[in-house]
Amino acid sequence: MSTKLMTVELEVNGEKRSVEALATTPLLWVIREELELTGTKFGCGRAQCGACTVHVDGVPQRSCVTPLSAVAGAKIRTIEGLASDDGALHPVQEAWVQHNVPQCGYCQSGQIMSAVALLEAVGSKVTDEDIDAAMAGNICRCGTYPRIRAAIHTAAKKVES
Ligand code: FES
Ligand code: FES
Repeated sequence: MSTKLMTVELEVNGEKRSVEALATTPLLWVIREELELTGTKFGCGRAQCGACTVHVDGVPQRSCVTPLSAVAGAKIRTIEGLASDDGALHPVQEAWVQHNVPQCGYCQSGQIMSAVALLEAVGSKVTDEDIDAAMAGNICRCGTYPRIRAAIHTAAKKVES
């Protein structure tokens, strides 16, 4: 395995960032350890649970299995990048609060990032089938799925169709 460090330029939550790490370093470690954005969680490390979901160029991806070398020059958005500069929550976050979605909370930043990507893709006409398809890879051991579904429908009313 190569032990050579590489320097990668990224845009993270709208800010230019430069990171030096092994090419194989998972994006999740870069986000948490190098950039100190700890809202994104480590669950399984095998692309099975969705806890580590972030957006890479607008597409939800499992950052635990995404090597740094694959995201050079990319725009990364994490849970910390959803609220606006004045601190106002994203409509999906507001809906999560309204529905008291989290229980232990561990899976929830990944759930929210998948939900945001879904609504950005589908808009206000989102259906239960859309939700099932988009959220299937996000596991919640606390079983908050009914509240997640309700919150997505609430947030959908606030997004452009
Ligand atoms: S930690 Fe990445 S999918 Fe589980
Ligand atoms: S809220 Fe506990 S794992 Fe989802």
